[in-house]
Amino acid sequence: MIWSSLLLLLAHYAVAWQHTDDDFMSFRTLPDVKAVKFDIEHLDRDRTSPGYWFVSPYLRIAPDGPTGVFEGFQIGPHIYDQEGRLVWTGSPMFDNRNVFDFKAINSIGNETYISLIQQYTFDGSHKGYGLVLDSSFQTVRKVPLREDLGSFDIHEFNVLDNGRTAVVTVYLTEDIDLTAFNRPTERTSLEIGGFAELDLVTAEVLHEWKSYDQVPLAETVHYSKWSKVEGPPGWDYVHINSVDKNAAGDYLLSMRFTNTIYLVSGADGRILWRLGGQRNGDFDQDFSFSKQHDAKFLSSEGTHHVISLLNNASDEEFSEEDISSALIIEIETGTTPMTARVLRRYNRPDGDLTRLRGNAQVLPDKNMFVCWSQGGYISEFTEDGELVMSARFTSPRFSNYRAYKFEFTGRPTIPPDMVAAVHATDDTNLVTTIWVSWNGATEVDVWRFYARRSQFDEPVYVGNATKHDFETIFIARGYLDWITAEAVDREGNVLGSSNIHRTDFPNWHFVGWMGFGGIPKPQDPGRMYPNGDGIPDEKVIDLSPTASSDDGTARAQVIKATQLLSKTQETVRSIGGVFTLILLLAMMSGIMAGYMLIRGWRVCSYQQVRLEEGLPDEETRLWRSHDD
Ligand SMILES: *[C@@H]1O[C@H](CO)[C@@H](O)[C@H](O)[C@H]1NC(C)=O
Ligand SMILES: *[C@@H]1O[C@H](CO)[C@@H](O)[C@H](O)[C@H]1NC(C)=O
Ligand SMILES: *[C@@H]1O[C@H](CO)[C@@H](O)[C@H](O)[C@H]1NC(C)=O
Repeated sequence: MIWSSLLLLLAHYAVAWQHTDDDFMSFRTLPDVKAVKFDIEHLDRDRTSPGYWFVSPYLRIAPDGPTGVFEGFQIGPHIYDQEGRLVWTGSPMFDNRNVFDFKAINSIGNETYISLIQQYTFDGSHKGYGLVLDSSFQTVRKVPLREDLGSFDIHEFNVLDNGRTAVVTVYLTEDIDLTAFNRPTERTSLEIGGFAELDLVTAEVLHEWKSYDQVPLAETVHYSKWSKVEGPPGWDYVHINSVDKNAAGDYLLSMRFTNTIYLVSGADGRILWRLGGQRNGDFDQDFSFSKQHDAKFLSSEGTHHVISLLNNASDEEFSEEDISSALIIEIETGTTPMTARVLRRYNRPDGDLTRLRGNAQVLPDKNMFVCWSQGGYISEFTEDGELVMSARFTSPRFSNYRAYKFEFTGRPTIPPDMVAAVHATDDTNLVTTIWVSWNGATEVDVWRFYARRSQFDEPVYVGNATKHDFETIFIARGYLDWITAEAVDREGNVLGSSNIHRTDFPNWHFVGWMGFGGIPKPQDPGRMYPNGDGIPDEKVIDLSPTASSDDGTARAQVIKATQLLSKTQETVRSIGGVFTLILLLAMMSGIMAGYMLIRGWRVCSYQQVRLEEGLPDEETRLWRSHDD
């Protein structure tokens, strides 16, 4: 009895700790990348706002040591479309490190930019940066925090003022005495919350503010008269987690451990008002909130402000309400008393509490996009609160601090990535499969494919495929080599071309090559696709030495099967790279098996195959042709 319970318990833990990689997408063209997958529920697709999701999954919030490195490119900044298809992964660009507050900026001139925080390293070798990238994913700003302000905090990198400045949150440690808690003889380390406004060109600190002068210890809900003193970094007594600025030059701060939102004067650093908190703030208000995140101005004019925030209403220790929500709050400071009213409330759709992080973003069409953080849970509501979409990572082990939705046009300057491979069992069924992707390109509609007889020959057009997913597969008749792909947008403009790629080939002996006249060599695409319309000349293809009259029907079968294969890959393209590949390979073996059956089995005895590992591609190829 005890044993069986124990076994059950063990089995439970085995399940809990064991992870396969079915929660990732992977791609033939970017073999190192594993992008987290989403489960998505569209409740009203037509009422979702246009745009892409900007997310930066993390496994652990603290920077990973070297042991995390072999987990591959899973974390960091990612853009997805609304069907959960990958659009861009920036994981390789950021060293496999955590990235936060990853978003697009549509407020600088006419161009779209991207901003993000690259987290400090686990060993302190660098303290992190705020980065601005352009729409080709090139870094245009990489701003460190002034040395004495500590590490670049992960909460906020809020680019303002047409891209000239950014406000960031700051954490600093000071040593204080506890007179405020009637313990004048005792001292503790205290984590001060603050913010800094940085010049994005010079990294100079233009403005800074620290909580300790303005927010007394008594405002914290996290420490009390009885709390034990601590060494550095000390009591995190305010936990600042967002900062925004209005046109008047005042700063809106959210502090999670005082349950308070503050407006701080840009002129003299005074606190102009407090919303919420231990002493119920300065407002007559019709709602409560706690442990809030991401307080942002939606509008701010004179005495009238509208702000949004995420009220997670709970933390690791306490729950003040039963459900987390995003709130839009109207604040009027010209009346006596000043008032704060909830204009909109968007409850967490699964009725649960967000115990970690999160954010709320009002979209241009007034839809509300919320990240509930844990498990990458996001949802979108119409302005009046109807849930239209909800999604989460298929894997509970990843989370995401803030998620955003933006319209975005990505125009990478690196060329598209490509892999090409030939498959066949004899000369009549040679096909070349081409995988292509272009990390971050949002405008590709169709991929056109070309092959050459050699690198010195002109490209010959061999066909096209509509892009439906991150990676596109195209299957061409014949053994083509020196492949390129060209990205074409909806208007027919060529956006870019891949480099020339050589075609991988299998170990012909292992795949049961049955052709006569030695192992196959790349064919002349000019002869195979003579009309430049991407349609192969079947007569040319049939002119193989193995062709004999009695297996004409078999050949027709193979051609049919190949066509079917091409068609099928169209339908499976959205399912994801690996699965498609498996299916493809399974179908290829099916075709081979079918073909063998039709032609009658030719028993191919196992032969000793020379070891080719270690030879570079080109050398292997030469070596093989000598073997003919
Ligand atoms: C922005 O776009 C407008 C309209 O297309 C154009 O007139 C203006 O010159 C552009 N500004 C910049 C800075 O490119
Ligand atoms: C709210 O988040 C914080 C931490 O991110 C967490 O500690 C707190 O527990 C959660 N509740 C909310 C709302 O934050
Ligand atoms: C793709 O191929 C089809 C069929 O041959 C053709 O009608 C279409 O114009 C091609 N598209 C592009 C962008 O090359």
